[in-house]
Amino acid sequence: MIVKTLGAGAGGGLPQWNCGCPQCHAARSGVIAPMTQSSVAVSLNGADWLVLNASPDLRHQMQVTPALHPNGLRKSPLRAVVLTNGDVDHIAGLLTLREQTAFSLFATATTLQELASNSVFAVLNPALVPRVPIVLDQPFSPLPGLVVTAYAVPGKIPLYLEPQGDAPLNTTAMGETTIALRIAGGGRVMHYLPGCATLPDWLCDRLTEADLVLFDGTVWADDDMQRSGTGVKSGARMGHLAMSGPQGSLARLSDLRARRFFIHINNTNPALMPDSPERAALRAAGWELSHDGMEIAL
Ligand code: MLT
Ligand code: MN
Ligand code: ZN
Repeated sequence: MIVKTLGAGAGGGLPQWNCGCPQCHAARSGVIAPMTQSSVAVSLNGADWLVLNASPDLRHQMQVTPALHPNGLRKSPLRAVVLTNGDVDHIAGLLTLREQTAFSLFATATTLQELASNSVFAVLNPALVPRVPIVLDQPFSPLPGLVVTAYAVPGKIPLYLEPQGDAPLNTTAMGETTIALRIAGGGRVMHYLPGCATLPDWLCDRLTEADLVLFDGTVWADDDMQRSGTGVKSGARMGHLAMSGPQGSLARLSDLRARRFFIHINNTNPALMPDSPERAALRAAGWELSHDGMEIAL
């Protein structure tokens, strides 16, 4: 299995258009590499590709990835797209994929409903782009030889669907709004979880089978945004588990045998700075940050 990170960043990317935080500044001045918004491409044969989440940066991501270049006059190696939720950073790239070329679009019925209620997505001609509902825990095969099983993980509804004001919001809901993907092929297994609000025991156990884990790296600490002065929301409020702390991903996933990378890394995450203590702690725990263009041969 070939796994390419098309984009390692969270919503907004790095640098984010309106942000002057140290990481965005470092990216603008060439000290650290920029990151586009989170998306991953997977292939068994190098010729047919599955894309996990369609980021707003997909056009650029495909342009800098020769394996995804057209293989005919109006023909693409992209065979299928699977969505893990309905947030803007994971669906806006579908608009780039209009232009009358066939591929299959897989998402839960809940996420497909969110697309259906936004009429702009009607630019994807249903005769060419079938929208295939994912049934949780039921394996499906978006590419020959590749078997994907989606399962619910704790998370919340997309930002643009959140109730206004003080209405209660379940940020650890289990269901079709936030899914993880188990992808098996060529005798290897990867799990992709770009959004995950908590790590209950069953989920830690489930990930022990993996050869590769790509996990939610949005925030280092729950209060990254408050501490950096960039915002008031906690990681938990955004549906994203912190890397650090006793319930954080580093501590909770210390038993993995998998190669492990964070993805969906927010620009406010201090671990992006190469010489930071946060980056050193993450490395000491056996993790790396994924980066745009990263390729893993499993
Ligand atoms: C998130 O992952 O929290 C969302 O992508 C937020 C957003 O839509 O910007
Ligand atoms: Mn996101
Ligand atoms: Zn920033």
